[in-house]
Amino acid sequence: MNAPVADRIRARIAQQGSIGIDDYMRLALGDGSGDGYYATRDPFGASGDFITAPEVSQLFGEIVGAWCAHMWAEMGRPSSVLLVEPGPGRGTLMADILRVARLVPGFLEAATVHLVETSPALRQRQRDTLAPLAAGIFWHESLSTLPDGPMLLVANEFFDALPLRQVQHRGGGWFERRISLSPQGALQWTLAPDPVAESDIPPALRGSPDGAILETAPEREAAAREVGARLARFGGCALIIDYGFSGPATGDTFQALKAHAYADPLADPGQADLTSHVDFTALAAAATAAGASAWGPISQAAFLSELGIAMRARKLMTARPDKAGEIELALARLVSPDQMGALFKVACLTAPNLGAPPPFPPRSGGESVPGGNAD
Ligand SMILES: C[S@@+](CC[C@H](N)C(=O)[O-])C[C@H]1O[C@@H](n2cnc3c(N)ncnc32)[C@H](O)[C@@H]1O
Repeated sequence: MNAPVADRIRARIAQQGSIGIDDYMRLALGDGSGDGYYATRDPFGASGDFITAPEVSQLFGEIVGAWCAHMWAEMGRPSSVLLVEPGPGRGTLMADILRVARLVPGFLEAATVHLVETSPALRQRQRDTLAPLAAGIFWHESLSTLPDGPMLLVANEFFDALPLRQVQHRGGGWFERRISLSPQGALQWTLAPDPVAESDIPPALRGSPDGAILETAPEREAAAREVGARLARFGGCALIIDYGFSGPATGDTFQALKAHAYADPLADPGQADLTSHVDFTALAAAATAAGASAWGPISQAAFLSELGIAMRARKLMTARPDKAGEIELALARLVSPDQMGALFKVACLTAPNLGAPPPFPPRSGGESVPGGNAD
């Protein structure tokens, strides 16, 4: 039997020296040996560690599903379209999208579902949720094995789970933040001995105060580049929903969530979710460099409200007066600025032939502005 994740991380550092946050996240969340955080559990809901928007209410997935149906029509109703979701969790969002798709003549028949998921436990959960709803469902380890063709991609809280790196400004240089072992064998922060090249630091941040932290996420950018290249080549669009900001900016957003509370990210590897905030400017730059157009980010509140979530909630409350209080609370959770409404942002990537997707504001001149029109 494998040693627990924390023991394997300590053994690796003892053998090879300090590791970067990116390797730490890979080892803690799922390193292929079968017992990383996502590989072993269903972390969602009251008994888990966190709750995501689709798990709060069907309202979220229904609005996203209606958006997908609209965009399929904007794409010219292709007779074959990939409905792609990286990081689909329990499959709840895709189930709500498929229920809406069924109401739009021709849409469900045109769609094949492609889920990008590394966790065997969650794949099984997705299979249970989705098998009754769609004929063709395919699983992938990564975006790279998606078949050719136009796609509609939806990623809710996927990019935040991909590994990041940090560098810290110290004594005039920038040094990678790494994880080492204390003399007592506990995980601790350390800085790499040699600075990174100054050219790796965005010019606007080079004068940051001592101690400032800059985050980069090459894997996220690679995923955005891959999505952008596919959209430019085959057509379609991608909706990205996550907590994040419009960079470049400094700040330490690396975080652990356990039982719905923030925890020390080094305290319990393999037993807590590890994420960080997404730099939407970096994603947009990667996708536009690959030929796509980028829109937003706008707040989750703006996205859902402008697409009619309050009206949909009222309809549901009329149909289920016994659930009215619950629906009202869920709506508030999704759109209130002090809950998920402002923290979460929504961005869109499109093939260059598509105009502004609703409800993103059109741009004069029609040019893509990486990370532009942030609210
Ligand atoms: C925070 S959950 C989001 C789940 C879902 N989208 C939702 O909104 O409920 C992150 C998801 O990404 C998956 N995941 C994490 N790293 C991944 C990777 N490198 N490739 C594919 N899926 C990954 C996890 O297994 C999980 O399904």
